[in-house]
Amino acid sequence: MHTPSSPLRIAVLISGGGSNLQALIDACEAGIIPGRIVLVISNHPTAFGIERAKRHQIATHVVDHRLYPNRESFDQELIRLLDQYETQLVCLAGFMRVLSDHFTHHYANRLINIHPALLPAFPGLHVQQRAIEAGVRFSGATVHFVVPEVDAGPIIVQAVVPVLADDNAETLAARILRQEHRLYPLAVRWFAEGRLQIVGNQVRLLNAQEDEQAALIHPLSA
Ligand code: GRF
Repeated sequence: MHTPSSPLRIAVLISGGGSNLQALIDACEAGIIPGRIVLVISNHPTAFGIERAKRHQIATHVVDHRLYPNRESFDQELIRLLDQYETQLVCLAGFMRVLSDHFTHHYANRLINIHPALLPAFPGLHVQQRAIEAGVRFSGATVHFVVPEVDAGPIIVQAVVPVLADDNAETLAARILRQEHRLYPLAVRWFAEGRLQIVGNQVRLLNAQEDEQAALIHPLSA
């Protein structure tokens, strides 16, 4: 558990548009998260999220996975940069690379991810399309601590989103994304406040107010 003393040093790993990164940047700048984003890393040189970070004077690095002979050497470079910036929390935000066990162990309990489904349902890729094909009436978003197994690990917060009859993958993804932008800053704020306690596979929110309890299970936000 993080013990807050000075503002939390956050790094965000992205591969694409970075709308979740933007939500985190905005929440830090608004003082909602008692922390600041000290580094953004993308594995894609053209990721728009890099542009977003630069607009807010945040340090950026591109670590192109294609230039590394294997996963371990790529991850080692990520670790080198993250440690160089004295990162206290690593946020995966649309980062499309599977991380090695070495990486997840190195940042154990200070590495979190956002996933556009209600885990443990629909891990992996193309989750909105798969949710529609499965005929589920509800999907959503999950923020969770990262463990070696992909899209697993103690769940911090989830939001439920309805799947509508005429949804396609894009319309559902957009509805889920709106909730992601609410959830991720909330989870990072709780971490920065030192209020997330991992007990086995569960996460306890310490000193939860009534409205925060509701936020943990926020239903049906269309
Ligand atoms: C989000 O849906 C996130 O849950 C998933 O990838 C997407 C990234 O979107 N892991 P953005 O780059 O934050 O806009």
